Amino acid sequence: MIRSKIAGIGYYVPEKVVTNYDLMKVMDTSDEWIQERTGIVERRYAEKHKENTSILGVKAAEIAIERAGITNKEVDFIIFATLSPDYYFPGSGVLLQRQMGMQGIGALDIRNQCSGFIYALSIGDQFVKTGMYKNVLVVGAEMHSCGLDFTTRGRGVTVIFGDGAGAVVLQPSEDENRGILSTHLHADGDHAERLSYINPGSHGGVFLGKEKFGYPDQEFGGAFFTPHMYETEDIYPFMDGQHVFKFAVTKFPEVIHEALEANGYKASDIDMLIPHQANLRISQFVQQRLKLPDEKVWNNIQRYGNTTAASIPIALCEAWKAGKIKENDLVCLAAFGSGFTWGAALIRW
Ligand code: ACO
Repeated sequence: MIRSKIAGIGYYVPEKVVTNYDLMKVMDTSDEWIQERTGIVERRYAEKHKENTSILGVKAAEIAIERAGITNKEVDFIIFATLSPDYYFPGSGVLLQRQMGMQGIGALDIRNQCSGFIYALSIGDQFVKTGMYKNVLVVGAEMHSCGLDFTTRGRGVTVIFGDGAGAVVLQPSEDENRGILSTHLHADGDHAERLSYINPGSHGGVFLGKEKFGYPDQEFGGAFFTPHMYETEDIYPFMDGQHVFKFAVTKFPEVIHEALEANGYKASDIDMLIPHQANLRISQFVQQRLKLPDEKVWNNIQRYGNTTAASIPIALCEAWKAGKIKENDLVCLAAFGSGFTWGAALIRW
């Protein structure tokens, strides 16, 4: 069977460092609160008017493509995962494609938030395994800083997120025992609004029990944006943090065990676990559950915050660059996030 392998990997984080102390200047929060609850010390914010989500994605993709030893023109397909796209539509995949001179090939956008990279990787893996494509570019990129509430009202969410991008190039593996062994994807829409950014949207308040919500009085149709949304400040992300925490600490270990069992492995066989960088407390909980030593789990949320779809490829690339992932290592990627969605990928490096 053909397997796909990660042939090239890259990441990019903006230069601007924003510490917890910087956030204390604009909202009522503290370094102690943020570090104790999330582990975050600082995060990066993209440069206003110069960078956006697709530009961050391009910077990561250029490195991944170069490391894969191919040119932009050899990429067969683009998969772009983000929850903070440049536009409501079209997606950021075509914008990255335009900037990289790859017009003509397919470009798919993935909207699975924190699990976006695992979903994107899984789709890319299927294309390579079936022999349909030889070089699939998978990107996870986020510019959260443009969509957060920088007042005390938004502090519970805002302090957690940062900007960044990571990318990989998938190619067929020459060795059938190495590459992506399996991917496992899950979702449970019962929790959709518990971690959400609902506007602009066509929801019309239907699921929220607010019939008139978001819709002006007119005979036909509705509106994505209404003054009412601004008045009620329903234009920012919402997170029921404790509910998210409860599910995350259950689903992370569950899906990791599912991936291990599908391939006849146990937790102690993992050489490197790259959890989505949701919150250091969640990662530590998962690590304890799996009984993994510190050197087998990569965390960088302390420096970058939660970069959603970008967090796994950034962490994977950092761990690889630091020499912590070597040929033949068993690498496990796992994510949980809005939707709720969750997933894992097991890779023989
Ligand atoms: N600074 C200071 N105080 C704050 C802040 C802040 N940034 N944010 C909230 N508070 C206050 C609240 O207003 C509240 O004050 P009150 O008691 O006077 O009402 C108090 O702190 C406690 O608020 P909670 O929301 O109950 O805080 P909690 O202890 O649950 O911690 C947190 C919040 C860190 C989000 C926690 O619920 C958690 O870890 N959840 C997991 C969710 C998560 O990590 N999501 C990451 C993104 S989603 C993902 O990637 C899957």
